[in-house]
Amino acid sequence: MESHFSDLIILLASGINQRRMYFDDHPKVQAVSHEFTTRLRGMIKDNGSDEFSIGVHSGKFIRQGKYLVGPSIAGRSLIEFAELLGCGGFSFRLPLAMVDVATFFRVGAAQKDKLANLEDARALFAANGIEHIELTVSLREEGDMEKAEGGPESAAEADFMAADFAPLLDVYQALYETVSTNNLSISRNDEVDMSGARTSGEKLAGSSDMGAMDVMQFMRYPDYDSYTIGHSVRVAALSAMVGRELGWSPESLAELATAGLVHDLGKGRVPEEILFKAGKLTPEEMKIVQSHPAAGAQILMASGEQSPLIISSAWGHHIREDGRGYPVMPEWYVHSSAASLIHVCDVFEALTAVRPYKAPMSPRRAFDIMLKDKGVFHPRILAALIRSTGLYPPGSEVMLSDQRKAVVVARGREMDCPLVRVTHDPAGLPIARSNQPAIQLKNGEELEIEEFLVVGVTEENPSRPLQEEDLITCDYFS
Ligand SMILES: [Fe+2]
Ligand SMILES: [Fe+2]
Repeated sequence: MESHFSDLIILLASGINQRRMYFDDHPKVQAVSHEFTTRLRGMIKDNGSDEFSIGVHSGKFIRQGKYLVGPSIAGRSLIEFAELLGCGGFSFRLPLAMVDVATFFRVGAAQKDKLANLEDARALFAANGIEHIELTVSLREEGDMEKAEGGPESAAEADFMAADFAPLLDVYQALYETVSTNNLSISRNDEVDMSGARTSGEKLAGSSDMGAMDVMQFMRYPDYDSYTIGHSVRVAALSAMVGRELGWSPESLAELATAGLVHDLGKGRVPEEILFKAGKLTPEEMKIVQSHPAAGAQILMASGEQSPLIISSAWGHHIREDGRGYPVMPEWYVHSSAASLIHVCDVFEALTAVRPYKAPMSPRRAFDIMLKDKGVFHPRILAALIRSTGLYPPGSEVMLSDQRKAVVVARGREMDCPLVRVTHDPAGLPIARSNQPAIQLKNGEELEIEEFLVVGVTEENPSRPLQEEDLITCDYFS
């Protein structure tokens, strides 16, 4: 699979987080070290260079003078490590060994205090025998940022950076932090932090939907841990969007966003070898996976949570509109609309996310699948989701029928006809920003969207007919 700059950053941050929980030779820590080392070697080879650098500047990752959205949200632990070391980033050189990376995780997980200067930080790396990983000098001036290595991630990302995204980035960093802290608490059998979750939920409900789809577009999950966290963050954001579309009050929106953040807490009680099993689950394993909604509701009640909206969403988010699904509903049970709403957003998220080792599905195809299966989703809520995201959310990269690549700038009046800006000519050569034509696509005209691209990854098998297993797999992952 093609390796991605963002994936490498998120893997590094994930490794530091893992190492806070486990020892060096724990299979999870080893797996991340191995994954990172292998992918890094592949990427360096593909690029024909002999090193790979990551820059950190004012709390965000940068590459060639541009901030990276997704990694800045998911990679907080690596940013914090760089800040404690007082460096401007990290540079990895061949022949990088797995042991260098494992030691990097250990030192990163243990570092609590800020070092006096870069010399001390370099001495710390040397004392721990870390070879082939260098600490780079801080980029103090904005002009220095141009010196950072590499090329921009994508036209869509560069666009988003140009807009004022700072407030949204803060909101999403808080959401990510909330979910990852709570996951850690559950794995340690500690109580979950519901007041933190509520604060993040309120922040999200109070922020604008503008740009929310764009942020989510850049969230990638190279490993199962970042997938699990990112899933809840995206479900929360989608739920707030749909709730707003349906005219919910600000108070209910904040509760709904919080419910999205904690809806899968019960997965912390499912053993990882079952949760992330690659093959088919046995009936017993399936039963354990399906216990997560009830387990989640119990965890919430044990933490003192009293909101019926939040508890019922955790309990009922796998119950279908026709009453099937799990857990089995008692006769007296009244299904809450919040649970139906989370259910819709949950499956849509699972279908469209960049999952580990799986290409994402376009929103359009996800809606095809969801609309086809009658009785699964609340129709009014599903319609509200389609209205609020559009078939081609802003920030999506698309291939036009004349083989030019473009980025979606805004939803059009017709769902499948957005306003696009052409970024590459038919030969694939980039067009200078000032010369990029903006085109409003129209139904019945020759020029149309041929393919949905997500940061360079084309949709997997777009011609494959829809299958029952599409819904089953995404249900299992959600
Ligand atoms: Fe979920
Ligand atoms: Fe779930």
